[in-house]
Amino acid sequence: MYIIYMILYTILLLLSLLFSILFIIFMALQIIAAFSTHAPFVPVPDEVLEQIVASLKLSHNSVLYDLGCGNGKVLVEAVLTHPQIKAVGIERAFFPYLLAKLRTRNFQNITIKRANFFETDMSEATHFFTYLYPGLLRKLIPIMQDHTKKEVRVVSCDFESEEHTPVEIVELDNEYLNLGKRLYIYHV
Ligand SMILES: C[S@@+](CC[C@H](N)C(=O)[O-])C[C@H]1O[C@@H](n2cnc3c(N)ncnc32)[C@H](O)[C@@H]1O
Repeated sequence: MYIIYMILYTILLLLSLLFSILFIIFMALQIIAAFSTHAPFVPVPDEVLEQIVASLKLSHNSVLYDLGCGNGKVLVEAVLTHPQIKAVGIERAFFPYLLAKLRTRNFQNITIKRANFFETDMSEATHFFTYLYPGLLRKLIPIMQDHTKKEVRVVSCDFESEEHTPVEIVELDNEYLNLGKRLYIYHV
């Protein structure tokens, strides 16, 4: 009996050690991402996914880019609602990129690229989703215009570009913390 307790105790000890190591790795990756991207991996709350996709106003031949796609949840919701669209996620940080690859593995029309969105071709995009700080959005809007050479719809969650005027502001119906409260919509 004593041996069984010892074995169980050792297994529990090893498991808690493993979880602690995984937690430390996760936190380290978050800190590295926060410093290297100026936009940490914070996914939008599930409660607002449907409202985000509705506000994108996608149609059957839309090409949606999520710049800094995190774990890819917005792309998955968009493709579940509009199976004919093409969806592309650009993610620079390794951990969220891995999660996005896993989450989207069964969707033929979702592509996840590990890249810096400032160095990525996005000429085919018709719609953009971003959940990035205002300074990044302000820099990205001219790049979107330059790449696409057509009017595109941009939906930004919670953050507003200081230099562009939204065509619409949508208040989100969400109780969750202080995230996912509002959408700023631009036609650029
Ligand atoms: C706040 S999260 C948003 C995640 C996802 N769009 C969502 O709404 O659930 C921002 C993401 O942008 C990524 N990111 C920041 N700067 C980037 C860059 N220059 N290129 C690619 N990804 C970037 C971060 O790694 C992070 O995962």
